[in-house]
Amino acid sequence: MGEGISDYTRYIVDLRRHMWLEGVETELRRLIWQIAVTGKYISAKIHESNRKLAGFRNIYGEEQLSLDRSSDEILKNQLQNSGFVREYASEEQDSVVQIGKGHEKYYITADPLDGSSLVDTNLAIGTIIGIHREPILSRGRDSMVAALYITYGPLITMIYSAGTGAHEFVLNREGEYVLSQENVRMDERGSIYSPGGLRKDCTDGHIKYLEYLESEGYKLRYSGGFVPDFNQVLIKRGGVFTYPALKKSPNGKLRLLFELQPMAFIMEQAGGMATNGKEDILSLKVTEIDQRSPVYIGSRFEVEKAREFL
Ligand code: AHG
Ligand code: MN
Ligand code: MN
Repeated sequence: MGEGISDYTRYIVDLRRHMWLEGVETELRRLIWQIAVTGKYISAKIHESNRKLAGFRNIYGEEQLSLDRSSDEILKNQLQNSGFVREYASEEQDSVVQIGKGHEKYYITADPLDGSSLVDTNLAIGTIIGIHREPILSRGRDSMVAALYITYGPLITMIYSAGTGAHEFVLNREGEYVLSQENVRMDERGSIYSPGGLRKDCTDGHIKYLEYLESEGYKLRYSGGFVPDFNQVLIKRGGVFTYPALKKSPNGKLRLLFELQPMAFIMEQAGGMATNGKEDILSLKVTEIDQRSPVYIGSRFEVEKAREFL
């Protein structure tokens, strides 16, 4: 290929260029770019292969890996230096951290390293980010302006939405995020299901829903990492990921603010849906930063079907 052509290709598909063409406003563009770049540093940390426990627990009482803490530090520092972020809320922090001077536009939520307990198995893991224009204790629908997640797998990919569709980028060998799929659109219905939680702990309605999917021939696709499991549903354009209400924990396991809202934002932008069984994830009011919620997220048919069974 001639030099001119490859230059032209790069010009079109680079993340910054794409956001500019999408009309994403300047500060948000810079912010998303900086977060995407942070993915490279987190990935470098993962490659150091330090799988040790940090000796601390997070607000959920879970043991933190030193990798969880260093990913959180990397993100927090980068966001602090960006000059665009007022507050940082993270799964690995005890409370919301004021990182700005008070005049900045954005409030960030982070699951710095989702699926970190899978790191020793070499399954894919990820980073999930929500970007809000209003303080985060509100309804996601009122405050979110963008969301993105990064997958660390055989490839490093980044999916973002700033409210004009969901777009996938791949980190290339030159360290640039290049567009791989623009405007990912979910089909009305898919053929895979990804169910979290133990069946013996689930409610009858949920078990009947799973039995329905199985009788319809849905294939099981579950790794135990929310980011890759969600990503599979999105990239295959259909199906459902669920982590349901459990008998002993009616709010399920996944965290509304750090995990569910950003993915619901992206899923809706791709034409899919996300519900807790009754209400849309983005319509739920967040009152506590560590709030959890059941979730059914994916293409419309399966998510609406879940509502019927629950
Ligand atoms: P994290 O690593 O950020 O704590 O999240 C783990 C989550 C999520 O990735 C996954 O869907 C879920 O935990 C699986 O949980 P269980 O294996 O406990 O069911
Ligand atoms: Mn997580
Ligand atoms: Mn995490």
